[in-house]
Parts: sequence; structure tokens; C-alpha cells
Amino acid sequence: MPIITTPQEYNEESLFVDLRQLYGYPLHLKCESFNFAGSVKLKAAASMVEAAERSGRLGPDSVLVESSSGNLGMALSMIAAAKGYRFVCVVDSRTNLSTRQVIQSLGSEVHIITEPHPTGGFLEARLEYVRQMCASDSRYLWLNQHANENNWQAHYRTTGPEIEKQFPNLDVLFVGAGTTGTLMGCARYFRDQPGSKVTVVGVDSEGSVTFGTPPGRRMIPGLGAGVRPALFDPSLVDDTVLVSEVDTIRTCHALARRGFLFGGSTGTVVHGARTWLEEHRKDQDVVAVAVSPDLGDRYLDTVYRSAWVQDIYGLDSTPDVSSDAAVTGAY
Ligand SMILES: Cc1ncc(COP(=O)(O)O)c(C=O)c1O
Repeated sequence: MPIITTPQEYNEESLFVDLRQLYGYPLHLKCESFNFAGSVKLKAAASMVEAAERSGRLGPDSVLVESSSGNLGMALSMIAAAKGYRFVCVVDSRTNLSTRQVIQSLGSEVHIITEPHPTGGFLEARLEYVRQMCASDSRYLWLNQHANENNWQAHYRTTGPEIEKQFPNLDVLFVGAGTTGTLMGCARYFRDQPGSKVTVVGVDSEGSVTFGTPPGRRMIPGLGAGVRPALFDPSLVDDTVLVSEVDTIRTCHALARRGFLFGGSTGTVVHGARTWLEEHRKDQDVVAVAVSPDLGDRYLDTVYRSAWVQDIYGLDSTPDVSSDAAVTGAY
């Protein structure tokens, strides 16, 4: 029985969901949501804060500031509350209301950017705002998840080894790309293992520029970027897949009909994994893992709300999940 004194100490690392009942072949989802921040971003947040403390940059007078689509903001506000720091989270109008409420309930401030940058989208607009804040007052400390090496190092130390421990014969790993901290940390970990044969596939949303494709509208937070993340090194990734948000929605709904209410980016990664496996390893015995960053409760107003799905994508109020389960004819 784990007994903890601070929320950041607890993180379930060994839970995997096998989707074979849904798709007819094994695909293991590593669930990164069972901690008090509810997402994979706890690891990056804890790692960046601890490094800033060790270096002396973060002290009692500092005010943490960060641009986040939501999950890192929640993780940082939790850690800031536990450690007694002030924190200002810069989000944009796509961030869910409940996410903003969680950050505020934990005692942090939320600043909302409502206008995207003309070329760099909401991300660039948020980053510009953070740079201006830091220039205005030296107490602000920007951890900068997009460029902070402690982001990917957290996954090198934890996510990669945990996957290897459970799946020593892993063939393919699918990881979504936001800041690419998870992707880079896992990719570096498997590259550094002697004799490793793991194929690492990056998955992103259509409209993201990270893998070199043109920018476009993206409504689901988590994955994707309007500016290529400084952490991203394409040479570490064996292949990439882009997924449309419509396919993300369909996949989320198909998983939910099996009782697994996952977040938007999990739908993206699962759809990307299925597309890649169908194309490259059809009917082969493959040990495949995909990383699931969060659960679906924070997407009830978007991915799981019929009116939103209809408005944004023109899909019927109940998205047709049949195409997503076509492999097994489950629907
Ligand atoms: C829901 C969700 N999925 C995926 C990611 C991407 O993770 P990373 O920033 O490590 O690429 C994030 C990051 O914020 C996220 O919030």
C-alpha cells in the first residue's frame, strides 16, 4: 500500500490496457493518467521543477510561469501548491473550462490568450506573452517545456524503462508528439539499449508542423504544434503518422463504447498505431505499445459532446464508430 505525503510522489507506472478485444490483435496502451495531475505531464513538470531547484534558479521569491495547453499547467499547479510556489499558467481559448478551473482551484493564476499569432498559431502567441512577462519582472521563472531538456529526460528515466520492463521483446512503440518530450525521451532510451530493435513511431495531428507538414486548424489540445518544438530531433524517430481529428474523435468514441474513456490524444495515438500496423505489419505477430497521455473526463465538453463534434467537424451527433472497429467487425 503506497503511503504518500505529497501528490507528486504517486504515479502508476505499470498499467497497460490491451486493445485486442476491440481490434483483433494486441496493442498495449501504457496509461499515464493515474496520478494526482491526471496525465503524463506530471513527469515533465516534476523533472523541470526539481532541476530548477537544484540549479538555484527556483527559489522562494520566484513565480513560475508556463505556456500550456492544459495538462502541464495542471501538473505544475499541483506541484506549486505542494511546494508553496506561485504559478501563472498561460493557456489559450482551446483549453477546456474544467482544466482552467482545476488550475485555479489549486491556487494558481490562469491567463487566457484569445488571438492566435498570424503565422505561429496559438502556441507562438502564448510563448510571446510568456516572454513579455519574463522581460517585465525578474521574479518570473519560465521552465519552457518546449526546450527544457529535463522534459525528455524524465521519460528517459521512467517511461522508457517501464515499457521495456513490461515488454522486453517490444517491436514497435507509438508516441504522440506535443512538446515531443515523451517521444524524445522514449526514443533516446530505446536507441541507447544495446541490441535494441524497437521501431519508434511518432504520431501527430493533421495541421501540426512538427513533422514538417503545413499548419492547419487543430481543435483538440495535447498533441501538435504551430511551431516545431525545440526538443524535436527527427533523426531519433523511425517513422511518423498524421491523424485527422475526425479519426481521433471516432477512435475515442469507439474506445468509450468499450468502457475506456480516454483523452483526445489517446484516440490520435491509437488511430495512428492502427494505421501504421495495418500498412507495415499486417497479419504479423508484433509486440506493440502506445502511450496514452490522459483520460477523457477533461474532454466532456469537446470530444465527447455531440453538439461540439457536430459544430466543429459536421459529424452526426453520435459519430459513426463502425469504421474504427472495422478490423474485428465489433460494431
Ligand atoms: C493530452 C496530452 N497528450 C499528449 C501530450 C504530448 O506530450 P509531450 O509534450 O511529451 O509531447 C500532451 C502534452 O501536453 C498532452 O497534454
